[in-house]
Order: sequence, then structure tokens, then C-alpha cells
Amino acid sequence: MRILLGVSGGVAAYKAVLLLRLLREQGHQVRVVPTASALRFVGAPTFEALSGEKVSTEVFDDVPQVAHVALGQGADLVIVAPATADLLARAAAGRADDLLTSTLLTVSCPVVMAPAMHTEMWQHPATVANVATLRSRGVHVIEPASGRLTGKDSGPGRLPEPEDIARVALEVAARGVAPVAAQDLSGLRVVVSAGGTREPIDPVRFIGNLSSGRQGIALACAAQDRGADVTLVGANLTEPVGDVADVVRVGSTAELREAMRSLAPEADVLVMTAAVADFRPARTPSSKIKKVPGQGPAPIELVENPDILAELARERERPGQVVVGFAAETGDDTGDVWHHGRAKARRKGADLLVINPVGHGKGFGTDTNEVVIVDAEGETVASAQGSKREVADAVWDTVLKVRPPIAPTTD
Ligand code: C5P
Repeated sequence: MRILLGVSGGVAAYKAVLLLRLLREQGHQVRVVPTASALRFVGAPTFEALSGEKVSTEVFDDVPQVAHVALGQGADLVIVAPATADLLARAAAGRADDLLTSTLLTVSCPVVMAPAMHTEMWQHPATVANVATLRSRGVHVIEPASGRLTGKDSGPGRLPEPEDIARVALEVAARGVAPVAAQDLSGLRVVVSAGGTREPIDPVRFIGNLSSGRQGIALACAAQDRGADVTLVGANLTEPVGDVADVVRVGSTAELREAMRSLAPEADVLVMTAAVADFRPARTPSSKIKKVPGQGPAPIELVENPDILAELARERERPGQVVVGFAAETGDDTGDVWHHGRAKARRKGADLLVINPVGHGKGFGTDTNEVVIVDAEGETVASAQGSKREVADAVWDTVLKVRPPIAPTTD
């Protein structure tokens, strides 16, 4: 793939070097277009040596080639990392005052921007508005990571790790330019839960599960690309949330339940992708449980968690609301995966249940999925196989088929 790597002037520009190296190792052709201030952090020879290509910052550098047009037309993917507050502002305003911003106006391929700046700058209304403008035009703006910033401060604003930027960007490139995606979920408010809950045993231990959150994140990204207003409720996500803008982070089942119940009254579609613990310790001592030499392990008494999906389905108030559940299943002596899944659909009362087989390398933490979607009676309404994004799109297609034709929300 021909990748144009834009680098703007922030301390995190040093990570662009690692990203460049990674993309080259993966066999991509990379042309680096830094801004003039990026070159105050990392020298052009570094980018030239690692990319094997010429580096220029100004439209006047290569006039006979009309570089900004040639670069824009020749790229399959543009990644801007780091994207500073200034770069976001210039791109949002459509400025063309250097080679990078001029090129951004000529590209027709997917564009992924990975911002990095101090928390105050990221949260400033000007930056928030610029990011919203860029997203509305189909630019994929990755949420910055939280953590240590340049000085002693920490908070949201850190450039995500090069591996994460590369993965999200290549996924975006694989699915094509966002504006081309049908905006068939536009006007719908959707809430997707993802990840796996952790039930505290004591202040340092928990009962958890292997869910990475990848399928739920794919559902949220797909819905956002298709025009929905999305909130992702993430329980202990081990995967980056891509360009999903609104993320509520939770830990335990109780926190997940509270978040879902407070968002449910406004939601047109609720999707429970999260792997929720069925049981939690009855008591959570405030200090660490000690190992007493000579004594065996103390038993942990468990109590049942409420079934959030069944509760949301049962107690829904919003007219036309669609509730979707996921059932990670394995077969056993009493029936196969699909038999158990269909029985669960009838029990839970959701409108749709997406059944997927797990274990033996399937489902959890993998890139692909294979699902059968059944209705509340357990009748098959669709099936899908492929990347988690493809499965996500199939779920949304099915939601649109079962959703009663009511006027979309206007609030
Ligand atoms: O019963 P099982 O855990 O297999 O059901 C899976 C579905 O139910 C998922 O959609 C999951 O998010 C949801 N669930 C829930 N609350 C629970 C257990 C599961 O919402 N306590």
C-alpha cells in the first residue's frame, strides 16, 4: 500500500519514526510529509533514511511535479501522526499553507489522524469543534490515549502506540473511505457495550473473562461510520477504541448495568456485546485476603448478577427500541452451540441474539467471527462470517430489517 505519513510538530513526532519503521517492515511504501515544525523535533534525514523517499515540507519544494496533487492522488491511505491542535485546526479550516495541508485537500483515499497534545488543548472547545468538523467529513480521528504527557502532567492527549495507530489505520483503509459508507443509521442513537466485566474479590483480585472488546468496538465504529450517534460502554477494554468519540468506561457488572440503564431511555438500539460475569463475590473485603500458612484457600461465596440484557429487554420504554444480545456459546453433551443459542434467545427476550461459537481459537481476541443471528423466538434471521467489522455491518443490516419504521429521534 502507498501510505502518506503526515507528521506535525509535537514532541510525539519521535513516535512517527517508529510508526514509519513499522509500516515499512509490513511492506508498505511510505512517503513522509512533515510540517516545518515537525522537523524541529525530528530531522528530515531520519525520515528519508527510513522511508527511502525524499522529504519535503513546502509546496514550493518540488514545483514541476506539483507535489501536493501528485502525492494526494498517489496515496492509498493518509496517516497524520501526531496531529497537533494546530494541524487539526488548519485541516478543519481547509487551509493550504504547507505541503501537508495542501495535500490533505487533494486526497480521495481514507485519512486517519492521531492527535497528540496536552489535555487542556484536546478538551478546548476549539479543538473539539475542529475534530467534529473533520469527522463529519469522513476523517478518522483516533481518540488519544490517556497517560503521561510531555511534562509531569498526565491525562487524555497522549499519542497512541505506533502499533495501535497502524492497526486502526490499516483497518480503516481496508474498509474504504467513510463518506462512501451508506448513512443508513443516521438519526439513530445507539449504545453498544463491549469488553468483559471484572467482579472484585478484594482490592487487588477479580473474577474476569477473556473478552477483548474487539467485536463491540467494531459494532460501535460501524454504527458511527453509518451515521448513528454512538455511545460505547467499555468494560475493561484491552483494545483501542478506534475513532469512537463517546466512550463510557466501566469495570464491574454493577457499573455496566448502571451505565446501560441510564443511557437506555434515550437509545433507539441497545447492543449488549459485553461479556458479563454471571456471578460476583458476595462480599468484597476492603483489605487484601491473606494466605494463612497451613490453611487451605478460603471459599469465595458467589451471588448471581442481574441479567442486564434481559432487564433492558423487559423494562424498555422507548417506542421501537431494538435490543440486541450476544451469546458466546460452546456445545456440550446436551446440545450444540446453535441449540443452546436458540434456547437463550427465547429466555432473554431480546429482539435479536447474535450467536457465536467460542473456544478453540474462535471468538475471543481473534480478528474474525462467525455468527448466526436469531430473533426472540430463536428463528434464524441472518448469518455472517468474516472480520469483526464485517460481522458488525451484518448485525446493523439485520437491525434495520427488524426495526419498526418509526420517525428517527430529533432530540
Ligand atoms: O447468558 P449469557 O451470558 O450467555 O448471555 C449473553 C448475553 O447476555 C450478552 O448479550 C451479555 O451481554 C448479556 N448478559 C447480561 N447480563 C448478564 C449476563 C449476560 O446482560 N448478567
